[in-house]
Formats: sequence, structure tokens, C-alpha cells
Amino acid sequence: MKLIEGKPIAEAVYAECLTSFEELRAAGHLPGLAVVLVGDDPASRAYVGSKERKCQELGMHSVKIELPEDTPQDRLHEVIAGLNADDAIHGILVQLPLPGHLDEDAVILRIDPAKDVDGLHPVNLGKLAMDDSTGFAPCTPSGCQRMLIESGIETSGANVVIVGRSLLVGKSLALLMMGKGEGGNSTVTVAHSQTKDLAALTREADILVAAIGIPHFIGPEHIKDGAVVIDVGINRIEDTSAPKGSRLVGDVDFEAVKCKCEAITPVPGGVGRMTIAMLMANTIRACRHRAGI
Ligand code: GUN
Repeated sequence: MKLIEGKPIAEAVYAECLTSFEELRAAGHLPGLAVVLVGDDPASRAYVGSKERKCQELGMHSVKIELPEDTPQDRLHEVIAGLNADDAIHGILVQLPLPGHLDEDAVILRIDPAKDVDGLHPVNLGKLAMDDSTGFAPCTPSGCQRMLIESGIETSGANVVIVGRSLLVGKSLALLMMGKGEGGNSTVTVAHSQTKDLAALTREADILVAAIGIPHFIGPEHIKDGAVVIDVGINRIEDTSAPKGSRLVGDVDFEAVKCKCEAITPVPGGVGRMTIAMLMANTIRACRHRAGI
């Protein structure tokens, strides 16, 4: 079994970012990312903090906008309009999920597609569906695909089963992997809560992607011998023996399935490392695009 760790692959993405960054700086451009956080969800706060730290590490311009839980829809639209008009900002990310009273789709529609480094605006999702590489693909799916490419896993003609149909991961990854680009040309099936006999379906997978947000949902009965398993889940579960009283686990029961897999990503230390790396890469690409480089 080969462990596909996120760190070295994320480092390779950051090395590319730095080269591009230096080229931009030499031409007088500084990439800038704005992250908008509404409310006080601890996991969202932690993600936003990591994004800000990574921007600082790379020397990028970074703006964090924190808004209260009861922010009205109109106020959020004003903030987005301000960021769209701000020349120092090349990428805008609104941390999801938003508090329940807010309409996420309406917010995402307000983001300038050229600054939508999260790849969630319909223009970018449409480009993804059209195999038009001038758009931005969502960061976690791009990170999964990059891990497969860097690990030398053949995706062309592979049976890929994705468990989970969210726009942020499952649906977008399906578009990427059935696309004609590198790391694509797969035969993709997307399974979800209404899928019949899930285990029979997933046992057909050469590459199985778990993105459902249920701890340890995928067990040995779901996996074909020699499959490649990508675990997108990041779930915090109670563990009285852990120092914090809890620990992070994936959607895959890693210990129970690892001996059946040709390769598998760990949690933590797998896909999670890639999301921010792809966000930085998209932001730098947005800056290059605006600079005409
Ligand atoms: N929440 C969890 N993952 C993500 C992501 O990739 N983008 C945004 N905007 N919110 C998230």
C-alpha cells in the first residue's frame, strides 16, 4: 500500500506559486486574496486562519473580512461589490457554509467570475463543464486531481466512483475527471444518499473518492482489491484518549481498508493540505491574468 501524502504535493504547488509570484513581483504586481467569514463557526474560523497564514508565508497581500452572524444579505452584497472593485484584490473567497438566513447562491453570483478563485460562480462551473481551462476549478477537487497526477495514477479509462454530490467537491470533481485534460478521461459515477446497493457500485471503482462527511463511512466491503482511495472527509470525532478530547478522521475507515488499497490518502495530512495550495495557485493565476502575463 502506498500512502499519498498531501504535504509534498502541496509543497510542489507552492514552489510553482513562488516562481510565478517572483515573476509577477518583478513586473510590479502583488497578488491579493480576500477571505470573507460570516459568523463564528470554529471550523470555518480555523480554515480562514490557515488561508491567511499561507498568504503571509508566500508574501501575498491578504485581507480578512469578519462579519457578525446576523449580517444581512444586502450588507454581504455590498462587501462583495467593494472587493470586486478593489484593484489590490485578485481573488475573493466567501467561507462556506454561511449562516442559515443567508442565500449562498445569491452571494456567489455577485462575485466577479475573474476573481472567483473558489470556482463556484456559474461562469466558472460552466467553463469546467465545457472543458474550458480559462476558468477556475474548485480547490478541493483540483487538489484531488493533482494528487492523482503527481502519484502517477492512471486516470484515463479508469472507473472512478465518487461518493458525495456536493458542488464544492463531488459534482465538480466528476466534471474534472470526465474532462479531457491531464488527470481526466475517466469513466465517472457519482453516488449519493439515494444510491442503491452502494457497496456493489463502489467495488467496481479503480479510483474511489469519499466526500460525504460521515466519519468512517467507507469500509472494506466498499473496496475492490488494488483500488486507489481518495478520502476528502475531515470529521472531528470525540476521543477521550486524545489530548483535545477529539481527533480528525476521514470518511474512510483507514485502518480497516488500507491493506486492500494500492494507494490511499491519510486524514489528516492528505487532501486537506491541497485545498489551500490550489487556492493560492488560483489566486496567482487570477493576478497573472489581470496583469496580462
Ligand atoms: N468550506 C469548506 N471548504 C470550502 C471551500 O473550498 N471554499 C469555501 N468557500 N468554503 C469552504
